[in-house]
Amino acid sequence: MDQKLESKGKVCVTGASGFLASWLVKRLLLAGYFVVGTVRDPGDEKKVAHLWRLKGATERLKLLKADLTKEGSFDDAIMGCDGVFHTASPVVGVLNDPKVEILEPAVKGTLNVLRSCKKNPSLRRVVLTSSSSTVRIREDFDPKVPLDESSWSSMELCERFKVWYALSKIQAERAAWAFCKENNIYLVTVLPSFIVGPSLPPTLCSTASDVLGLLKGENAKFQFHGRMGYVHIDDVALCHISVYEHKRAHGRYLCSSTVMEVDELASFLSARYPSYPIPTRFEKLDRPYYEFNTNKIRSLGFKFKPAEEMFDDCVLSLGEQGYIPSA
Ligand SMILES: NC(=O)c1ccc[n+]([C@@H]2O[C@H](COP(=O)([O-])OP(=O)(O)OC[C@H]3O[C@@H](n4cnc5c(N)ncnc54)[C@H](OP(=O)(O)O)[C@@H]3O)[C@@H](O)[C@H]2O)c1
Repeated sequence: MDQKLESKGKVCVTGASGFLASWLVKRLLLAGYFVVGTVRDPGDEKKVAHLWRLKGATERLKLLKADLTKEGSFDDAIMGCDGVFHTASPVVGVLNDPKVEILEPAVKGTLNVLRSCKKNPSLRRVVLTSSSSTVRIREDFDPKVPLDESSWSSMELCERFKVWYALSKIQAERAAWAFCKENNIYLVTVLPSFIVGPSLPPTLCSTASDVLGLLKGENAKFQFHGRMGYVHIDDVALCHISVYEHKRAHGRYLCSSTVMEVDELASFLSARYPSYPIPTRFEKLDRPYYEFNTNKIRSLGFKFKPAEEMFDDCVLSLGEQGYIPSA
């Protein structure tokens, strides 16, 4: 039956074995695309086995080796593709050297990927995974007006508070816009808030581990996260495909279902999953109140799954993977 599915074209997904990218690969294969995924080591069974188990993978998935820090590394994977989904970027916690560990791989890596895109005459569109952290880290806005895609976080604030991940995403997205404008590449960016849902990779990424920690009673990570937007992983993958396929999609797209204070999230989770020791005491942080205006993506007909569904799916999968007792 799968052989009869007409290919919708060939697309590349960078960092294909990651938390979000794996789900995106799954959705692209289901939609009928031929997917070239890049990973740092295609021979690392532990990192890629889940991708080979996806429906359609045997027929329409190819994995190639590429590293953000190696110039020209993405040429082979990108050549001949109609579209590129650039999701690879370091998502790391504590850092010894932010410049080397996160800022350079994110920014130089993005430009490295885009230089490979420039060499590909069949390229139609690039979709870059940015982050809602490129929008919300600022102090100079009216909290009564929800933040939209016209907002950019303050790099000065990020440096002052050592929020290196957000700084890397801002610098990478800004560099991508400048490069694509100069080189006439059609770029659309997706700005997800905190992604929640089942993890296809067996090893949890940084944000999925934070959720696991919260369910096990740890409060440090979420205390720091404070007020945060949340979005289902399936919605983030579908949003990437939607802005790739919609002819009139352009610019930046916030991708977030709901924004909650950390104590609101904790009360919601403890009421819904009473068997887990979810902490309920969090310090109130002195940070500005904000909401997200997601009308732009909704205007493409997009609807977000609610918090109940994203956390139910996440909890179920963490139980099935043996990280927590089933709820
Ligand atoms: N999780 C969230 O809540 C969230 C929210 C907003 C935006 N995002 C964005 O979504 C994207 C995916 O993040 P994720 O949450 O799925 O985290 P993840 O699982 O850690 O994925 C990051 C991916 O980037 C790859 N990568 C890192 N450094 C690389 C390098 N030097 N060369 C090649 N690949 C490299 C990783 O490869 P390895 O597996 O080999 O390390 C991994 O595949 C990122 O752009 C992130 O900023 C995530």
